[in-house]
Amino acid sequence: MAISRVWIHCAIVALAVAACVLPALAEESGSEEPSSVLTLDVANFSETIAKHPFIVVEFYAPWCGHCKRLAPEYEKAATILSKHDPPIVLAKVDANEEINKELATKYEVKGFPTLKILRNAGTNIQDYKGPRDADGIVEHLKKQVGPASAEIKSSEDASNLIGVKKVFVVGVFPEYSGEEYMNFMAVAEKLRSDYDFGHTSDAKFLPRGHLNIYKPTVRLFKPFDELFVDTQDFDIDAFQTFIESSSVPIVTTFNKDPNNHQYITKFFNNAHAKAMLFLNFSIENIDSFKSKYQEIAEHYKGKGISFLVGDLDASQGALQYFGLEAEQTPLIVIQDINGVKFVKVHLEPDQIATWLKEYKDGNLTPFRKSEPIPEVNDEPVKIVVADNLKDVVFDSGKNVLLEFYAPWCGHCKKLAPILDEVAVSFENDANVIIAKMDATANDVPNEFEVRGYPTVFFSSASNKIVQYDGDRTAGDIINFIQKNRDTDKDTPVQSNTGKDEL
Ligand SMILES: *[C@@H]1O[C@H](CO)[C@@H](O)[C@H](O)[C@H]1NC(C)=O
Ligand SMILES: *[C@@H]1O[C@H](CO)[C@@H](O)[C@H](O)[C@H]1NC(C)=O
Repeated sequence: MAISRVWIHCAIVALAVAACVLPALAEESGSEEPSSVLTLDVANFSETIAKHPFIVVEFYAPWCGHCKRLAPEYEKAATILSKHDPPIVLAKVDANEEINKELATKYEVKGFPTLKILRNAGTNIQDYKGPRDADGIVEHLKKQVGPASAEIKSSEDASNLIGVKKVFVVGVFPEYSGEEYMNFMAVAEKLRSDYDFGHTSDAKFLPRGHLNIYKPTVRLFKPFDELFVDTQDFDIDAFQTFIESSSVPIVTTFNKDPNNHQYITKFFNNAHAKAMLFLNFSIENIDSFKSKYQEIAEHYKGKGISFLVGDLDASQGALQYFGLEAEQTPLIVIQDINGVKFVKVHLEPDQIATWLKEYKDGNLTPFRKSEPIPEVNDEPVKIVVADNLKDVVFDSGKNVLLEFYAPWCGHCKKLAPILDEVAVSFENDANVIIAKMDATANDVPNEFEVRGYPTVFFSSASNKIVQYDGDRTAGDIINFIQKNRDTDKDTPVQSNTGKDEL
């Protein structure tokens, strides 16, 4: 009983950043070797974090590939950091274990691995957003354990701290006191895992241009666009918003440079419409593309649309996600805030501006990713693709159970024979259709919220949609269909002739 309830979902890979989505239980647990990483569970979690003023906890699942890749790096980092003064403690919790579920909930673990930095017996919790290789982890955590803002006492300090690859926020204060200084430090403490902070009493140490200050000022250095920007607004919220909005490039670059990863994540997480230009960065007229695109992005700044340019080398996954091919590049995709997409393939630099204007004016036809409509569809479980979904599900007047699956998803494979059994049992019922859609090869309409695979929905004859989240047994699924279907008072059930071809 408990086992059949296991709705383990394979993750939907979000373009660049992959993680495993939180599932339920699993049996396996590896044998433990002596380790520098503390193993915690719900019984000894609180006492352990109370003992260590600074501790990093990894929430993992034994089956998660990204966790397996992290494990040796994490272990190595833990060994190095155990000798640090003060010691930095690394721990892990198997969040897949039933008993640890409450910890996973408490710490808002939504995917694996999730790493949290806990300070002061867990009264201060931050997401670990640093690198995932041993040296990177060590370096990042050493910085996290020190003061939130480093004092800059010389030009040398400044050039050591303010690199050319990252955002760096410096507060310049005639005196290290007063409300502005306190607010700066509070924000630095709050955002320390996302940005690097420093402070100085002498503006002349700072690079990239003269800063004439008469009152406390913040200069945010960035490795793109105008290279730095200043503010004198120390209101905590305003200051935080300033940092967040100033540290996103006008055009995000999606290539294999790990320094860009943070911007790519921000790009995909923001709530704006998104314009994405994909092309091979080695083509002849790349500069012409980039400069035109930058110009257009500047023009649209603050108008609710964010811009990204992706190198073909790094963007294959993204293209596949959109159902597009490398041969169609240079191409541009716009995804609006409702997820509706517009695509222009074989793009020329001169066409970008006009095409964006057409988009703004609402003149473009949406793009839909779909497999071809199958010519033969005579298996018990019918094949639905984006281009026939409306006909089969919404306009057919039938009760449709629809599974969204991914070809690589093991749990979907397990469900397949069960769905077959369900479909066979309804074979003589002309008003019930059992169907499946490869959600990786077709756009899923907004009516269905698919966050993992398999996800099963039922749409009644009158298009009332409910998600199936019962046990994965034929019996339970059949009962569910019988309970939720619309009664066929007006449509007499056809006998053994079977049902119409889809
Ligand atoms: C916490 O308890 C688990 C299970 O008993 C044990 O394996 C682990 O070593 C304990 N961890 C600590 C830090 O005491
Ligand atoms: C990009 O173009 C270069 C030069 O034409 C070519 O060698 C390379 O294979 C292309 N990259 C991809 C991913 O197609």
